[in-house]
Amino acid sequence: MEFPVITIEPAKVETACLVVPVFKDGDLLPTAAKLDDASERLIGQLIERGDFDATLANVQVIPFAPGLAADRLLLVGLGERAKCNEGSFRKVLDAALKTLVRMPIDEAVVALSDVPVPERENVWKARMIAEATRRAQYRFDIFKSEPAPASRLERVGLLIDESGDAATTEQGLHIGNALGEGINLTRTLGNLPGNICTPRYLAEQAEQLGKESAGALSVEILDEEALEALGARTLLSVGRGSAEPSRLIVLHYRGAENEQDAPHVLVGKGITFDTGGISLKPGADMDEMKYDMCGAASVLGTFKALAMIKPKLNVIGIVAAAENMPDARATKPGDIIKTLKGLTVEILNTDAEGRLVLCDALTYAERFEPASVIDIATLTGAMVMALGNHATGLFANDDDLALDILDAGETAWDRAWHMPLWDEYQSQLDSNFADLANIGGRPAGAVTAACYLSRFADKYPWAHLDIAGTAWISGKEKGATGRPVGLLTQYLMDREQDANVSDEA
Ligand code: BES
Ligand code: MN
Ligand code: ZN
Repeated sequence: MEFPVITIEPAKVETACLVVPVFKDGDLLPTAAKLDDASERLIGQLIERGDFDATLANVQVIPFAPGLAADRLLLVGLGERAKCNEGSFRKVLDAALKTLVRMPIDEAVVALSDVPVPERENVWKARMIAEATRRAQYRFDIFKSEPAPASRLERVGLLIDESGDAATTEQGLHIGNALGEGINLTRTLGNLPGNICTPRYLAEQAEQLGKESAGALSVEILDEEALEALGARTLLSVGRGSAEPSRLIVLHYRGAENEQDAPHVLVGKGITFDTGGISLKPGADMDEMKYDMCGAASVLGTFKALAMIKPKLNVIGIVAAAENMPDARATKPGDIIKTLKGLTVEILNTDAEGRLVLCDALTYAERFEPASVIDIATLTGAMVMALGNHATGLFANDDDLALDILDAGETAWDRAWHMPLWDEYQSQLDSNFADLANIGGRPAGAVTAACYLSRFADKYPWAHLDIAGTAWISGKEKGATGRPVGLLTQYLMDREQDANVSDEA
C-alpha cells in the first residue's frame, strides 16, 4: 500500500476518485472551495439543491466532475462544524475508506487533512487516514468457499496545501500504516477459532513475527516442562483440563541506543478458549470466548507495529497462553495452588482463570527490572457491565503511569477510563485456607480482579487494561476490533519522546 503526499492544485489532481469532506453549514473547506470554483460550482449547487446531505459520515459518489482532472468525487458529510472532533473525524474516515475499498478503482486522493479537528495537526490526521485505510481493507474470509472480492485499492494520495509540512505528514502516514497492520494482525488472531488458534499456534505466530522482523524482534517460548521447572504452577493449573499444552511466550524488541535501558513490558492474557473449566460457563454466546486471547493478540499486534516504526526504546512482550477446559485432570473449585511468586491461591471459581495465568506472567516480568508493566486482558464480564463497549478499563498502582496511558489513549483515539484500585476492595479476596482467593464476590468484579493482579505487581509501576468490552464486537458485525494496539503503540512512542527529553536536559 502506498500513501503519497500530494501538493498540487486540487482541480488538476488526476485521480480515479477525489474524496472531499463537506460540513452541513455549506461553508466549503479550502480544497472543496477550489474545486467548486473550477467546476462551475458543482459542489455548492449539490448542497443548495439538497442533492447531497452532509450529515456526519454520509457519503455520495459524484460520477462525473466537469472542469476537474479527477474522474469522480466522493463527497463525505462532516455533520455540524461545532461538533467536529476526533471521534467524528474517525467516523468520517471509516465511511469514506469503506466506500473507496468497494469501488472499482486502484487509487484515490483524499482532501481529508482539510477537516479542522480542534488541536490536531496534519501529522495526526495523516496517521488516522493511513490507519483507517488499512482497517477498511481488512478481510477475514479464509474459511469462506467464495470470499467477497478483495479491495483493489493500492494507493491513497493525501492532498495537502503548500503550507502543510510534507515530511511530517509522511511520518504520520508511516505510523498510521504500521498501526493499521498491527491492528489487523490482532483482529485476525482474535477472529481465528479456538480449534486453530491454540497456545502453540500463538507461539508459532510470535516466532513468525520474529522471523519477518529482520532482526528487530527475538522470541523465546517456554513449554510446559520449562514452566514446571520455573514453578509457574498457577499458569499451568488453567491448562490442566486441556489437550492443548500451555505456553509462555516472550518477545524482545531492543530499540534503545543503550542496551541496558530498562524495558517497558506488555503482558497479554492468551486464553485461546475459555469454557470456564469445571465452573462451566452457560452455553449462550460461548463461541465468543475464542476472543479470550485478545490481550495476547494486542501484544503481538503492538510488536508488529513496533518492528515497523522502530522507536528507540526496549520493549518486552509476555503472552500467557492456555486453554481453559473441563476434564478429569482439570483444576477443581477449592483447589489450592502455589503461584510463581510463592503466594498460595484458593481457586474458588475456575472461570476466573485469566488472573491465574497473568499472576505468574507478572512475577516473570520482575526479572527484566522493567520501567513499566502493562497487562492487557479480557478479564471480567463486570467490566462490560461497567463501561460497555467504548472505554477500556484502566487500573494502576502508579498515578503517573495511569495518566500517561490515558493520554496515549486520547492521542490514538483508543480511549481508556481510570477505575479505582483502593485498598478497601482488597479484603474481598480473603481466603480461609490460602493466602488469597481468586474471586472477590459479585460487587465490583472488575476491581477485585485488578486487586488480585496488584498483589503480583508490587515491584514496578504497573497498569492493567481490562478490554473485555472493547476487544471485539458482537452481533451481525461480530469481529475483533484490534484494540488497544493504538493505545499501546502510542504509549510506547511517547516513552521514546520522554527518553529524548531527559537526554537533552
Ligand atoms: N474471559 C472471561 C471474562 C469475559 C466474560 C470477558 C464475558 C468478556 C465477556 C473471564 O475469564 C471470566 O470468565 N471472568 C468471570 C470472573 C468471575 C468468575 C469472578 C466473569 O467475569 O464472570
Ligand atoms: Mn473465565
Ligand atoms: Zn477468560
